[in-house]
Formats: sequence, C-alpha cells, structure tokens
Amino acid sequence: SIAKMHGRQILDSRGRPTVEVDVHLDDGRMARASVPSGASTGTYEAHERRDGDHSQYAGLGVRQAARAVSTEIDTALHGRPVTDQQEIDTLLRDLDGSPALTRIGANAILGASLAVCRAGAVATGQPLYRYIAELAGTTPALPTPVVNILSGGVHAGRGMDVQDFLAVPAASTSFPDALHIIARVRAAAADVLTARGLPTLLADEGGLSPGCATGEEALDLMVAAIEAAGLRPGRDVLIALDVAAHTLVTPDGDYAFAREGVTRSSAETVALLERWVDRYPVVSIEDGLDEEDWSGWTTLTGHLGGRVQVVGDDLFTTNAERLRKGVSLGAANSILIKLNQNGTLTGTLDVVRAARAAGYAPMVSARSGETEDDFLADLAVGVGAGQIKIGSLRCSDRLAKYNQLVRIAEDDSVPFAPWSPASTS
Ligand code: PGA
Ligand code: ZN
Repeated sequence: SIAKMHGRQILDSRGRPTVEVDVHLDDGRMARASVPSGASTGTYEAHERRDGDHSQYAGLGVRQAARAVSTEIDTALHGRPVTDQQEIDTLLRDLDGSPALTRIGANAILGASLAVCRAGAVATGQPLYRYIAELAGTTPALPTPVVNILSGGVHAGRGMDVQDFLAVPAASTSFPDALHIIARVRAAAADVLTARGLPTLLADEGGLSPGCATGEEALDLMVAAIEAAGLRPGRDVLIALDVAAHTLVTPDGDYAFAREGVTRSSAETVALLERWVDRYPVVSIEDGLDEEDWSGWTTLTGHLGGRVQVVGDDLFTTNAERLRKGVSLGAANSILIKLNQNGTLTGTLDVVRAARAAGYAPMVSARSGETEDDFLADLAVGVGAGQIKIGSLRCSDRLAKYNQLVRIAEDDSVPFAPWSPASTS
C-alpha cells in the first residue's frame, strides 16, 4: 500500500518547471513519474496549475502543485492499495472537485496518477505496458511512430505556418525497422536543407525548422528528403501533418497563414488541405481547423475522411464529452491522446475505449514540453494504440520514449502494429 506521496518541481525540455511525483510503498519500494506541458494548447485541456509568482521562472513555477502532492494528495492516498488505480483516480478527481482540475491542478493530479500506476506495475512485478493493458482490458502492440521532420508554428518561432510535417514509415514490419527508416529520412532532410542553403535549426520537439513560406515548399522538402534517403514517397514513407490551426485562427474565425501572407476562410482552408492531399502522399491531418470550428471539421471529414486520417487534438483535448460531440457530428475519424489534457490515467483510458467504440483511431502523443519520463511508450504499447507521436529523433526527452519502445520490442510476444490509419479501418 501507499506509504507516502511526494511532489517536487523539476524542469522540462524547454527549461520550464513541471511536476514530478514519487510514490513510496510500505515495503520500501518507490516509483516516480513526471508531467509534460504543451505550447500549442487547446482551450478545453485540464488545468495546468502555475504559481504566477513572477520572481520565479516568470510565473511558471509549480511549487504549489508539487506541495499539494506532498500534503493533500498524500493524506488522501495514504494506506491505499496502490493497485486500486481506478478508485485512486476517482478519488483524486473528487478531491479536486472541479471538472478541469483547476483547484489542485491537473499537473499535480496526473503526476500522482501516473506514479501510482508505475508503482502498481512494480508491486505486481509486471512490465508497465502489461499492467496498463490489464487496467485497460487491451492487447499490447508496438505502435507505428509518426515522426516530426519539419516543424514551425509556436514550436519554432512561427517560422512556418503549419506546425508539423511528419514522416510515417508505412511499409515497416517491425518497430526497430520503422525507427531506422525515420532516422534515414531525418538525416536526409538535414542534408537536403544544407544543400539548399536552408537553416537546420531545431524546433521544440527536435524537428528541423527551415522556415518555409508555404506548406507546398515544406511538402516538397519532405518528398525530397524521403527520396534522398533512398525511399519511395507514398510507398515506404507517407506524410502526416499537424496544422495546429488553433494557433492560426483569427477573431473572425478565419485562418491567418501569416508567414505566407494569406488569410483563408474555413472553406478555403479545407480546399487547401484537399489540394495537398491530391498532390502529396499526405495520409493524416491533425487539427486542420480550429477547436471551435465544428462545422468546418464536419466538412473536412466529409471531404477527406475517406482518404486520410482526420485527427482531433485541440479539438478533443482527450475529453470524453468533446469526443462524444465530435462523433455525433462526424467531425473527425481519429483522436490524439494526451494524458495531461485529460488529467488522470483512468480518464485517458476511458477516452481511448470510447474512441475505439466509435471507430476512431487513437494516436498516443507527447507534448512539446517533455521530461525524461518514458511512461508514454508503455501507454501506447499497453493500449495497443497503433500509432505514437513523440517528436523527432533528437533530444533525450524524445529518445527516452523511442528507446523504451526499442526495449519493449525485445518482447517477442508483443506484435508490431503496422500503419493502419483511420481512413481505411
Ligand atoms: P503541444 O504540441 O504539446 O505544444 O500542444 C503537440 C501537438 O500539437 O500535437
Ligand atoms: Zn497537435
């Protein structure tokens, strides 16, 4: 059972404070988890509690949230069986008492929830992915990695309008092979940029930030990089996008492609995305429109949902109610799964289950601010998500997850889930 919960403030991959939690069990064993943080966040995410004391980390400190773990949460969980994940997550939610977890803070609550889960795996002597699969009632599988190659948006000083251009190793039959294919594309992309005199600066998730003025220029670079790697665009490697359109939307509901110097209506943005799907091997589009543009999403999915995966990130914020609304409107066919948008492990597993029931493909995702915690890898495997988005093959906060997937791939009883987007499932 749980002897002690301890929270502390550590720093994430952007050097900003975040919460880490230690769970001490009564037999002396300990488990630890830390919490990520987004930059292109959705309005309906669970609340990230920050101190707001401008003398400390420009107001971004999380000392109050960390203290809440060591005090209120410690008192509430003391003596509980650590394997009571569902009850503990319910208790944490009730203890906070607000739907968005604003009082204690979703960063404190998620840290506690994940550390408890890891301690549960330790206590039952199982790998974390098996323990998560047991909690979720799912069959473990290694996901196909969907990997940032070129990035812009708020992850790269708005050097490009579209946030991410990602590579999908569609023909891979094992996780190590998929990783190698991506490494080849990533290296070739840097070579192509260098050869063209473009910058190879790194964005927040380790992608390259060449600062293309238009989406077409970036897509051309993606195709060139895949070819330069000796791979076939559209066969070996496909392209996924995260437009993060919430960062483009104007007060009038139009979309300002500022770098390009063009403002488009919702319908014009859908038409633009359709042209890209016609001309390039684009198979997945995340947040093509703003989180409030429900009718635009329904149009987008009506036009493209049979051909590509239409993924809601800021649209759904890993929230069961928003997913329900999206399903009833036919707004998408896939959902990004981010633990800290939801706030607890159990809540996140519930959303994965609801997504599957609706025929939506779940894609497990990291945040642009991450720590060395590799929980995400075990989560994606445990629920058999099929797809994971971690960031580029750079920066140890990203590699911690990729390397954990490499370790899990040594378990011959865990199959690899080859690329199978929502559009064809
Ligand atoms: P974020 O970026 O963590 O800054 O939200 C990731 C994404 O948009 O998918
Ligand atoms: Zn996104």
